[in-house]
Amino acid sequence: MPGHADFSALSGKVALVTGASRGIGRAVARRLAAHGVKVVVTASERSARGLDEARSLIEHSGGQAHTVVADLSDPEQRDRLMMRASGAFGPIDILVNNAAGIPRYAPPSTMPRADRRALFELNFHAPVDLIQQALPAMRDRRWGRVVNISSEMAQQPGIPYPGPAKMVHALALYGAAKAALERYSEGLAAELHGSGVCVNTLAPTKIAMTESAAAVARQMAEQRPEWVEPTEMMAEAVAQLCRASLTGLRTGSRELLHLLQQPLLALDGSTVIGNALTLVDID
Ligand SMILES: NC(=O)c1ccc[n+]([C@@H]2O[C@H](COP(=O)([O-])OP(=O)(O)OC[C@H]3O[C@@H](n4cnc5c(N)ncnc54)[C@H](OP(=O)(O)O)[C@@H]3O)[C@@H](O)[C@H]2O)c1
Repeated sequence: MPGHADFSALSGKVALVTGASRGIGRAVARRLAAHGVKVVVTASERSARGLDEARSLIEHSGGQAHTVVADLSDPEQRDRLMMRASGAFGPIDILVNNAAGIPRYAPPSTMPRADRRALFELNFHAPVDLIQQALPAMRDRRWGRVVNISSEMAQQPGIPYPGPAKMVHALALYGAAKAALERYSEGLAAELHGSGVCVNTLAPTKIAMTESAAAVARQMAEQRPEWVEPTEMMAEAVAQLCRASLTGLRTGSRELLHLLQQPLLALDGSTVIGNALTLVDID
């Protein structure tokens, strides 16, 4: 197994991780903090407790974290978020747009306009607004990393569908918002080429074992174990994208590790627990 990369350049950087109260976002925040990144974790009021837990976990491991509560589906709250986040440790160097949600499951033929708008507000407009707010300071310092978290649902699944057709149809609008985010990210990466600011989209290869995905993931873990990955896989891939200067990628977590020939590390940022090709025990 190859030796793991040097993450020391991340020490002292400041990150904002959205949706960090649980799941992938919390794992990403913990992993970045393990490399000395000062992390601002944010989620909505619903998750205030989860955010406090995330902060405690980071602080108990010797890291630095600050919590900011904001509802990203509310444009006014997210407009204030960057100012509040930057007030904690200074300007944001690393923005991980991870928060996402599906306000309503409905097929594309009947998704009501209000729900469609709410879905795009949270999954597309919120990350774009945060990027536009973070960019001036990143450009000034000629260093920045934007990682937008996407989903394989950004594309229509091949047939036969991996699951009930009704569910695949109900995810079409969510997928459309993620596809919009991916296309935006590629365009932004091209615009910013050479500026020191790198922009990428990253998705779990199929499904990450998070609290919200647990029911499906546990079922899949029995039938198709290679489809399920621990949250450490996304945390690893985000850490790799932050330490490297790759830009304009749309990639999956395992694919990126395989491309970079990097081992999978635990959230402590040092213990090797696998690699892109091995299956890792899922709790
Ligand atoms: N888990 C998977 O298998 C999987 C697969 C493909 C893609 N993804 C992507 O990976 C990312 C994380 O997934 P996950 O499974 O870890 O999600 P999750 O467990 O559902 O967590 C989502 C996070 O976003 C926050 N959030 C949701 N709505 C919000 C709002 N209006 N304002 C502020 N924060 C909000 C949530 O907190 P509150 O709602 O309490 O505020 C929570 O912290 C998402 O972008 C998702 O699309 C995940």
